[in-house]
Amino acid sequence: MILVTGGAGYIGSHTLVELINQSESVVVIDNLQNSTELALEKVKEITGKDLTFYQGDIGDAQLLKQIFEKHPIKSVIHFAASKSVNESVSQPLAYYRNNISATVTLLECMAQFNIKNIIYSSSAAVYGDPVYTPMDEAHPIGPITPYGKTKYFGEQILADLAVSDSQWNIVMLRYFNPIGAHHSGLIGEDPLGEPRNLLPYLTQVAIGKRKVLSIFGQDYNTIDGTPVRDYIHVVDLAKGHVQALNLIQKQCGLKVLNLGTGKPTSVLELVSRFEAVTGQKLPYQMMPRREGDAECCYAAPDAALKEMSWKTELSLDNMLEDAWHWQSKNPNGYN
Ligand code: NAD
Ligand code: UD1
Repeated sequence: MILVTGGAGYIGSHTLVELINQSESVVVIDNLQNSTELALEKVKEITGKDLTFYQGDIGDAQLLKQIFEKHPIKSVIHFAASKSVNESVSQPLAYYRNNISATVTLLECMAQFNIKNIIYSSSAAVYGDPVYTPMDEAHPIGPITPYGKTKYFGEQILADLAVSDSQWNIVMLRYFNPIGAHHSGLIGEDPLGEPRNLLPYLTQVAIGKRKVLSIFGQDYNTIDGTPVRDYIHVVDLAKGHVQALNLIQKQCGLKVLNLGTGKPTSVLELVSRFEAVTGQKLPYQMMPRREGDAECCYAAPDAALKEMSWKTELSLDNMLEDAWHWQSKNPNGYN
């Protein structure tokens, strides 16, 4: 049985589907600070299976103990965190509290119950400004924002834990840019308020909720002047967690792996594929660079292939089709 923290969120809900489809039993804990229980209802609809849900905070040791006493949890997949880069700059303490302190509480409770298998959601944000591309796991570390730092400190805490006790099996997954949605159109990304990330903003423009997409910067040293990223289908990403669980079952010790496609895509390339795939005309305007944006960031995903036989299967067109399917089927997200 697996405890999924943050399971009602964007990546968590997609991972639940893949886990349940592999006949894993799951328990979810989520405080719903950035999600809704409806996502879990949709997961049940897609899989035809039930799941156990606790609405609560991973910083609540009493609740965690109740869960560990009641369910035979073998491994934890730890998604629960605050993830807004901008917000982390204005509220760093809230980010250190939620992403670090609460993670320490979770780990303490796990250790107390002798549960020593964990998959941790890290981010390409730990690399900071790219020094070379594609970026492998040995790329220099240098997170720029409080959010990126919390993800990196989380990695460091887990690494120290692995040194202190060799029974821990820890897979830290550094995600590149997850986009898209489940093919059913029943679950997807549902940001609160005005989206900051490219895809949700773009699909909200396409559906007419926002007037125009701003493209931040056209003077980068890239194929067409716009920044380059490694967009990965959220379902491929979710499947990476199933593979990571298999890796943990082999008593893998500590591993850190990139999850990306290894394929670079510029903002303009993405916009043009979106228009081609969906037949939607997308109004956009060129704007100055956004502060803190890297020029070019994409993964070397070879280690994940070697260590856990995982690679992406879905194309950029699949990502854009599925993102559009979700947005057009649910113009107001889960509401
Ligand atoms: P999300 O906000 O959709 O999901 C996170 C979930 O955790 C939400 O449902 C939220 O309510 C819950 N949560 C937050 N703090 C909690 C707490 N203290 N106790 C219980 N529940 C809590 O985010 P996501 O995009 O699904 O991201 C999942 C993980 O992946 C995060 O750790 C994030 O840092 C990491 N990550 C995300 C991206 C991305 O682009 N989405 C990229 C790299 C890494
Ligand atoms: C950002 C975070 C990263 C985090 C990720 C997922 C920064 C510097 N990085 O990555 O740490 O893991 O989100 O939450 O914030 N763009 C536009 N117009 C828009 C929005 C974005 O042109 O309205 C461009 C950006 O300049 C960027 C690309 O689209 O080049 C992707 O942006 P975004 O989706 O925000 O992700 P990242 O910035 O790569």
